Amino acid sequence: MVITVFSPKGGVGKTTLALTLAKVLGETNKVCVLECDFSPGDFVSLLDLDKEKNIVNACLGDYRACLQKPQGEKFDVIVGGFPDMQESLKYADVERLIDSLSSEYDYVLIDLQPQVSEATVPALLKADRVLFVLEDDISAVSRTVGIIEYLKLHGFLDVSKACAVVNKVKGKGKYITAVDLGIPVIYSIPYLQRLSEYKDKKMIRHAKNLKDAFFEVKKEKSLLRRLLNGFKRVEQKDK
Ligand SMILES: Nc1ncnc2c1ncn2[C@@H]1O[C@H](COP(=O)(O)OP(=O)(O)O)[C@@H](O)[C@H]1O
Ligand SMILES: [Mg+2]
Repeated sequence: MVITVFSPKGGVGKTTLALTLAKVLGETNKVCVLECDFSPGDFVSLLDLDKEKNIVNACLGDYRACLQKPQGEKFDVIVGGFPDMQESLKYADVERLIDSLSSEYDYVLIDLQPQVSEATVPALLKADRVLFVLEDDISAVSRTVGIIEYLKLHGFLDVSKACAVVNKVKGKGKYITAVDLGIPVIYSIPYLQRLSEYKDKKMIRHAKNLKDAFFEVKKEKSLLRRLLNGFKRVEQKDK
């Protein structure tokens, strides 16, 4: 299963959530996190990894040689690239890498950069689920609404696969409750004082809840789909 963590804005918690989810899912599953970020990303410094084993070399060479396991973790990662590297990747290169990873791992989590480009669109189109991360402020909410419209218009996003998590919530929901994102908001994570890193116990607890909420939505959807299919079958019989 490919889960892409995305937001049109930086600093909302994508990387933190992708890594905490990897830690939680990695307890019982084979997990790889692909940092699809050319800004460059944060994995190299955050996890103390080799920057040469990056997404570009994984796409253009042997991806297995680019897999790295952060110290003390059970999951693998492929680190992001640098701004000038993005143009060397075509859609099909990244698509092939995602296909290879998803055939080898139970879960492929993609930490996707905010900017949409040829090299990053496969992370949206190959995803089984796209998790939008946003904060409850006017800029994050309006940008999220805007990017969902844009992605839909260009056929880059299947909204039935998308859901949202609100992060760094302080107090009651404000903007998020007033706006219809067009996708379900499945969980809220409070602003955690002195959050040190993705391994933080409180963050892990929230990631576990998020994981439960995440698969719950899917179950509800498939139940709904089953019911609708049931109706369709009855209709067809009646004809
Ligand atoms: N729930 C939270 N409460 C407080 N700080 C958070 C929370 N989630 C993430 N952060 C912090 O916000 C900053 C940006 O997070 P990051 O995951 O790097 O965002 P992004 O990948 O979207 O740019 C980091 O310093 C991270 O520790
Ligand atoms: Mg990030």
